[in-house]
Amino acid sequence: MGTALDSRLNDKVALVTGAGSGIGRASAIRFAAEGAKVLCADIDTQAAEGTVGLIAEAGGAADSVGLDVTDQAQMEAAFERAVEQFGKLNVLFNNAGIAGSEWQQTIDVNLTGVHNGLLRGAKFFAANGGGSIINTASVAGLAGLTGPHVTDDPDEIQPNVGAYVAAKHGVVGLTKQFAVTFGRFGVRVNAIAPGYIVTPMTAEARSDDATEEYLISLHPLGRLGQPEEIAAAASFLASDDASFINGVTLPVDGGYTAR
Ligand SMILES: NC(=O)c1ccc[n+]([C@@H]2O[C@H](COP(=O)([O-])OP(=O)(O)OC[C@H]3O[C@@H](n4cnc5c(N)ncnc54)[C@H](O)[C@@H]3O)[C@@H](O)[C@H]2O)c1
Repeated sequence: MGTALDSRLNDKVALVTGAGSGIGRASAIRFAAEGAKVLCADIDTQAAEGTVGLIAEAGGAADSVGLDVTDQAQMEAAFERAVEQFGKLNVLFNNAGIAGSEWQQTIDVNLTGVHNGLLRGAKFFAANGGGSIINTASVAGLAGLTGPHVTDDPDEIQPNVGAYVAAKHGVVGLTKQFAVTFGRFGVRVNAIAPGYIVTPMTAEARSDDATEEYLISLHPLGRLGQPEEIAAAASFLASDDASFINGVTLPVDGGYTAR
């Protein structure tokens, strides 16, 4: 006998970073729709509050907190806030990320930010009977990116792309390491590797028709992904349906990495 979909996360409290937009917002909404209480964290506090509003309108339970994932003290405070507000915490979605920034900022947010969440989350869950951590990696965590930025002129090579790819490969590595280290405490650590998804992060690239067509052509399903399709995978990995899944990076990419 399975559990009804709308109650799959009934006994869960989830902290979602980057919950103010795109994949994080869609996931916070999905978690709440499946019964979780959700703390929506974002460096853009107003955006996180907007997500809480959407969840409340749909009858779900959520709260917001301002959080810069690069700041370990703020990460700890977000955990305290979740426990204060909802009595416990057992799901962490390390999802906040940026694209198109320079090396140090990209590494700080996309790699150190995830590490900060893992450090706090893995220890907290280990001390509290277990939990599920999900990291947002990328297809750029599994292979180098081909794209419109690939050029015949070495002077035009964009170093920001390398920073993004390095950070996301790092997230895949951290996912494995924390899964191996904390599995014995009932802590599952997995990652999702999205293909190109229709969110504000990709808005600029999608605004150019030729670039959008090119990006679509990289996905065998013949289209870009929607944030709700990443949210569906995150919700599965958060739930007890994924109780024996630990240390994987799940591509949710329309076949991008199968090519
Ligand atoms: N959109 C895509 O095509 C795609 C593909 C693969 C992976 N990803 C990854 O998915 C994640 C979410 O991306 P998205 O497309 O939803 O982007 P988005 O820009 O729509 O949302 C990102 C959110 O993260 C927040 N954020 C940025 N820096 C932060 C920080 N230091 N602390 C806390 N919050 C911060 C932003 O305010 C924003 O609300 C990122 O990790 C991104 O790298 C996206």
